[in-house]
Amino acid sequence: MTTDEVQLRLAGIDDAPDLLAIIRSAFGVRRPASTPPAAMSDSTESVRRRIAEGAGVIVAVNGEDAGCLLLGFEPDQVLTMSRVSVLPTHQHEGIAAAMARAAAEYGADLGFRRVELMARADFPELVTWWQLRGFEVDREVPGGFILGAELPVSIPVPTPEDMRRLGELLAAHLRGGDLLVANGELGAGKTTLAQGLGVGLHVDGPVISPTFVLARNHHSSVGGPDLVHVDAYRMGSAAELEDIDLDSSMADSVTLVEWGAGLAEGLADDRLDIDIVRSADPADDTRVVYLRGHGARWATEDLYPLRESFVPGTAPHRSAPHVADQPEETE
Ligand SMILES: Nc1ncnc2c1ncn2[C@@H]1O[C@H](COP(=O)(O)OP(=O)(O)OP(=O)(O)O)[C@@H](O)[C@H]1O
Ligand SMILES: [Mg+2]
Repeated sequence: MTTDEVQLRLAGIDDAPDLLAIIRSAFGVRRPASTPPAAMSDSTESVRRRIAEGAGVIVAVNGEDAGCLLLGFEPDQVLTMSRVSVLPTHQHEGIAAAMARAAAEYGADLGFRRVELMARADFPELVTWWQLRGFEVDREVPGGFILGAELPVSIPVPTPEDMRRLGELLAAHLRGGDLLVANGELGAGKTTLAQGLGVGLHVDGPVISPTFVLARNHHSSVGGPDLVHVDAYRMGSAAELEDIDLDSSMADSVTLVEWGAGLAEGLADDRLDIDIVRSADPADDTRVVYLRGHGARWATEDLYPLRESFVPGTAPHRSAPHVADQPEETE
């Protein structure tokens, strides 16, 4: 199966009967546990209500529905995932992981900061499955655990000038030793963002594409960190990147590696991934920039205010607290 055949879409309330059928069929084949899954007592009405109050995601393979999940909008910018369901005929095809990734991206775009789900203690293999995908056990609840993960900060950037402004604002969060790994197709805006970083860091310029020199060192004019700007586009391996000997400069510089995914991760324990995504509509110049920190350095650096300078307001959430609901279950 190629990924081209997999399509994800948001569910409308009219899709509730289809979602219910997928949920029943997925949860119906689970091995017996201490108590039957709460999913088995879902009704069309309860699924419709959850879609109306939150959202639903459906995945189709070759035009046929193959899986779904439900999203809840909770206070404090927490997104919940539940009823992660894949039809028995489509298990072990990576569908659950694809749905979870798409749901997380959708939640980040709406302004959620964190995603949580419940996994039952009866199914320790499911706890492990989510842990392998970046989730951590947050707390114990009756019957299981709440697992959670931080969402990337999603920032819509309409124009090149805005991309430079984002770089300038991001610079205020940076210090010597930071590693930034920028990804996105040709012309996505990686170098444009780097130009803004250069302005914000007050380094000598001009910051231009380093394609033919591999790495360019821009010195700070204010005694701050230098900017080391690297292009890994033509590098075939992490060893080639190591050959340009960034180690000597990294501790005192901000190092930005364009096209660094899969190559630059070994350069430091901590890094900030910057993924720039173009709109599917060629007439729309908007880029969405996803910022995702890895390691202790970024766990304490709140980059969410950068989003707030581009998008006013916070994520939607349910207005009334829900009292009687059971903790949610995932598959
Ligand atoms: N919203 C936007 N953000 C950034 N750049 C934009 C935007 N809209 C249009 N552009 C244009 O897209 C181009 C981005 O080029 P840039 O060199 O920054 O991309 P890049 O990701 O570094 O590409 P490469 O992979 O070739 O190095 C520029 O010409 C810029 O003016
Ligand atoms: Mg570039």
